[in-house]
Amino acid sequence: MHPLHIVRYTFISLLLILPSTLAWRPWPNTTTTTTTTNDPLRESKRYEGSSDLVHLRYHMGPVLTPNITLHTIWYGLWPAPHKRIIRAFLGSLSPTSNPPHHPSVSAWWRTVRLYTDQTGSNVSRTVSLGGEKNDRFYSHGRSLTRLSIQSVIRSAITAKTRPLPINPEGGVYLVLTSADVLVQDFCQVCGFHYFTFPSIAGYTLPYAWVGNSATQCPGVCAYPFAVPDYIPGLKPYAPPNGDMGVDGMVSVIGHEIAELASNPLVNAWYAGEDPSFPTEIADLCEGIYGTGGGGSYTGQLLDGGGGVKYNLNGVGGRRFLVQWIWNPVLGYCSGPNALDQ
Ligand SMILES: *[C@@H]1O[C@H](CO)[C@@H](O)[C@H](O)[C@H]1NC(C)=O
Ligand SMILES: *[C@@H]1O[C@H](CO)[C@@H](O)[C@H](O)[C@H]1NC(C)=O
Ligand SMILES: *[C@@H]1O[C@H](CO)[C@@H](O)[C@H](O)[C@H]1NC(C)=O
Repeated sequence: MHPLHIVRYTFISLLLILPSTLAWRPWPNTTTTTTTTNDPLRESKRYEGSSDLVHLRYHMGPVLTPNITLHTIWYGLWPAPHKRIIRAFLGSLSPTSNPPHHPSVSAWWRTVRLYTDQTGSNVSRTVSLGGEKNDRFYSHGRSLTRLSIQSVIRSAITAKTRPLPINPEGGVYLVLTSADVLVQDFCQVCGFHYFTFPSIAGYTLPYAWVGNSATQCPGVCAYPFAVPDYIPGLKPYAPPNGDMGVDGMVSVIGHEIAELASNPLVNAWYAGEDPSFPTEIADLCEGIYGTGGGGSYTGQLLDGGGGVKYNLNGVGGRRFLVQWIWNPVLGYCSGPNALDQ
């Protein structure tokens, strides 16, 4: 049996306590005067460099080493230009014959590729766009729970017309909700990933949810294109694709796909002892987009003019701002726009 078919019995007990990482919140860019000096994370020149404090471990479960195929479910109202931004990002993850300028999205994915499974195979180099399904009539309502998101996936893979394909070998599902959809724990989390239960969807399929936070909590989930009220005077950056909510989603989508790839059944790569509250490879680097990042400071970014800041180039001349990923070789967060590369 393919490992993705195996559901460990213990996971059933996780049903009620699905892993949830609290959304990272930017904190004011204060200097050492107000921060506790005994906090080594804050003292470190490279806040992300405190490898001694990060016990990221491999827990022997499967990793997405086969070619990854992303099947997208657009839940709610999704204007075509918004879809195009997200598709361009997803389509930039794999290397292409006409590669974008450095630093690129596919170079960002190389950090995720550093994670391996028991056989020493790396996370897949190839991440391709699979099927898409529009759920524009809100099949499960405008307020979703963590569990009803699995029913949204079930509807998409069992639809009478053009159901989404089921390929447990590297197939993953992205449920993207429009700004008017409420989701359980949204704003405490900006996205999450898990796997479907056979009792609901018929299969064990890794999936992620990410919501458009434009009207719900942009200062948290679309930071730094929106800033929270509690940091007065901080100016938001202009989004590189002109849409605060969707440009903000792109980084969260990158975060969730990186974690899906390295921890698809929540028993592979994570830090911490409690598998129901794992700290995963992107959680460790939230809010860090460039060299020196930490606190409310994003780190060194590229300047796109007109207030636009970004750190990655994608296909078709698109630009994106995506958080860094924990690099297990270096022992700190890294990305292709690092100044020391
Ligand atoms: C995986 O993707 C690569 C590049 O797109 C392709 O050459 C290869 O045949 C694929 N492998 C499988 C098993 O589909
Ligand atoms: C695979 O992962 C190992 C361990 O992190 C790393 O040394 C190697 O460079 C990776 N290979 C690729 C092709 O990324
Ligand atoms: C935050 O602090 C860093 C390092 O001291 C500085 O370079 C950066 O400009 C500051 N950012 C903001 C938004 O104040």
